[in-house]
Amino acid sequence: VLLGGAALAGAGAWTWQRAVLDTTGQLAFDQPLAIPPLLEGELDDDGHRVFDLAAGVGQHDLGGGPMETWGYNGDYLGPTLRASRGEQVTVNIDNQLPDPTTVHWHGMGLPAAMDGGPHTAIGPGESAAPSWRIDQPAATLWYHPHPHGETEQQVYRGLAGLFLIEDEPGAALPLPDEYGVDDIPVVVQDKQFDDGELDASANFLSGVGILGDSIVVNGTPSPYLDVTTERVRLRLLNGSTARSYDFGFADDRRFALIGTDGGLLSEPHHTTRVMLSPGERAELVVELAPAETATLRSYPPELGVNAYGSRFGGGDDTLDILQLRAADQLAPRPEVPTDLVEVPRLDPAEAVATRSLQLGGSHINGQRMDMSRIDFAVTAGSVEVWRVQNADGTPHNFHIHDVQFQVLSVGGAGPPPELAGWKDTVYLPAGVSFELIARFSDYPDPDIPYMFHCHLLRHEDDGMMGQFVLVEEGQSAGDLDQHEDHG
Ligand code: C2O
Ligand code: CU
Repeated sequence: VLLGGAALAGAGAWTWQRAVLDTTGQLAFDQPLAIPPLLEGELDDDGHRVFDLAAGVGQHDLGGGPMETWGYNGDYLGPTLRASRGEQVTVNIDNQLPDPTTVHWHGMGLPAAMDGGPHTAIGPGESAAPSWRIDQPAATLWYHPHPHGETEQQVYRGLAGLFLIEDEPGAALPLPDEYGVDDIPVVVQDKQFDDGELDASANFLSGVGILGDSIVVNGTPSPYLDVTTERVRLRLLNGSTARSYDFGFADDRRFALIGTDGGLLSEPHHTTRVMLSPGERAELVVELAPAETATLRSYPPELGVNAYGSRFGGGDDTLDILQLRAADQLAPRPEVPTDLVEVPRLDPAEAVATRSLQLGGSHINGQRMDMSRIDFAVTAGSVEVWRVQNADGTPHNFHIHDVQFQVLSVGGAGPPPELAGWKDTVYLPAGVSFELIARFSDYPDPDIPYMFHCHLLRHEDDGMMGQFVLVEEGQSAGDLDQHEDHG
């Protein structure tokens, strides 16, 4: 184990000593990358696309032998669901876990009752069948549990999967789109082990919860991928509970960033790095020459300095992630086009409300998550501007349920190219004010709230989360005490 510990130095003064983790060049890359099965569901008599997901306990080798893990329809992680814009989808969820769970559709616009938040828990042995119409652009979304106070532990054990949305503008582009061939899911997570078992305990004083010293991709330790095409699309998900990554390649090759959380960008951003905090996604296209290898790596992200004067959150670590191995002969794939899709800009003049949210010390605006408190009501279908800021310097990010937002400004300046498209989660460097703009869904329901929170899952579980409801204009929020047995 390369991580150091914390030492008590003198009365009342804590010193944090943590060796920098650097796995550069140390991985064998001897395990073929697992590709989660693609699930396209079945069309029922009403033309609904129906998926089946069973959450259960299994055994999976995350490095060093089989250990207890949790998964959907399998031992670890879950299948990749795929559906098209305009379709009504229904997901039959069967909870075979020993604990209550929920399934949250991260990045999806949908009624609060279908959103899988903490108010809609599914008990052990019980089932649920959320159903909604998909009405948003092609994107790489994901799903994961969201039970009150237990999200970090359930995600860490393995409950997560991708949900791909397709649409016509996306399908019309000459981008790699053969799942598992040139369109590859890359779910990146850090793990730590104790005595051959998954160790879900928080790193002492890490400030962010679990920081593992091993990386798995799609649940595969030390993974390689055989590449058979000149260009390959990687759909990256930071599926870690706390760690942020600054992804690039070991040889610093450029790649085209083509999409972010909620869809494709208007034009590709050619770059050498993309940083993802927990919950964020990026789609990139990288080119390989015949017979070469390219190593996806995470470089130390700039996370800002926290109150102790040290950088926490895995911010100093350099980690090898995945080796791409090109075949001797590669099937041709077209260049990434210079224009991708139209991303209509939301207009701040349309905003009917502006809110200010400060994240710090397990709170948002000084308040800790309370299942029975609705923080505010948003008019269904309206546009709002939220000003969000990391007020305490610990690594935080910010996620809003139901919407894909746009970043209007970062510290008063326009968004950088990687934040110019649709987002649902954004990293918040210390002290920098972010202005986000979003149009909320038109599904009023004063009684079931949506969440907004830090997606460092320990912070979320510790209370850095709030609740809003969607209401008809002029209506007020319901009384949650009357509705506690949703969960
Ligand atoms: Cu990905 Cu409220 O979560
Ligand atoms: Cu946080």
